[in-house]
Amino acid sequence: MVKTAADPDPRLSSFYADLTSLELILGTLAQEGVDTARLSARDLYSRNLDCQNLGAFPVLEVIARVLDEYGPAKPGERVLDVGCGIGGPGRFLVDRQGCRVVGVDLLPLRVETAQALAQKVGMADRVTYRVADATALPFGDGEFSQVWMLDASIHVREKARLFDELARVLRAGGLLVLHDMPGPLPRSMASATRRAPYYAPTLPQLIRQLEHAGLRLLTWRDTTPLVLADFEQKRAAVDKAGAELEGKAVPEQVRRRLARGRKLIHDYLDALGRDGVACGILIARR
Ligand SMILES: C[S@@+](CC[C@H](N)C(=O)[O-])C[C@H]1O[C@@H](n2cnc3c(N)ncnc32)[C@H](O)[C@@H]1O
Repeated sequence: MVKTAADPDPRLSSFYADLTSLELILGTLAQEGVDTARLSARDLYSRNLDCQNLGAFPVLEVIARVLDEYGPAKPGERVLDVGCGIGGPGRFLVDRQGCRVVGVDLLPLRVETAQALAQKVGMADRVTYRVADATALPFGDGEFSQVWMLDASIHVREKARLFDELARVLRAGGLLVLHDMPGPLPRSMASATRRAPYYAPTLPQLIRQLEHAGLRLLTWRDTTPLVLADFEQKRAAVDKAGAELEGKAVPEQVRRRLARGRKLIHDYLDALGRDGVACGILIARR
């Protein structure tokens, strides 16, 4: 059993319970004819099974290309993945760069699942996980050459403490890599923001906050078209799954989970790309 950090907001736990199932991931791979006894990290992330950043794997590839311009992590260096979820982005990073990754997440179930997946793909020696709050990181000053935080800062209310912590654990000259959807969030996101905590500053506010923590903005790259394309694919997949369940005796909780997933996808599709609502990659240097 993985150790608990501070008590998480119950809405966060319930929101991410829908997105944390080892059985579902292994079942999907088996259906696709993949030998689940011989999995590689790529089997997971290239199918978007463990990347829960907005835009999933295609956005990870763009982040890696952008980082090539500013200094990618080198083999053996340590990278911290804050709000790592079930760990897809971190394992992608280990695979691509040969670096070592430490993932932290507030929710023990997410960390347990990330650990189980790292073991399954034979990466447990290069990527480790622990339960921790992004605003109180259990690491010393300057321990990491990069800190990644993909679509997780939006759930953190205390942004000043968050950025102070991210900056503190970065070595001088190290890079902060964020993927985020700045605010203000539109009305069409109202049901999502009731289901989970969302605190989305505007992009200028976000930049001021990280500069206040001693970080210097290097670039912001819009990823909205890629994220929309990924949500279109997700919508098609959820509609197909719904059609396949039609007329079948399916547990009510499975139907409800599918309905919640469909609603969330539609909310993002309604919101993104309209009235300046966007998401993107932000890179800053300490
Ligand atoms: C959208 S998911 C992204 C997961 C992962 N970064 C990825 O891209 O696959 C957001 C994650 O942030 C985590 N999270 C939210 N608040 C957090 C906090 N205060 N400290 C650490 N993790 C947090 C959630 O539990 C969730 O796993």
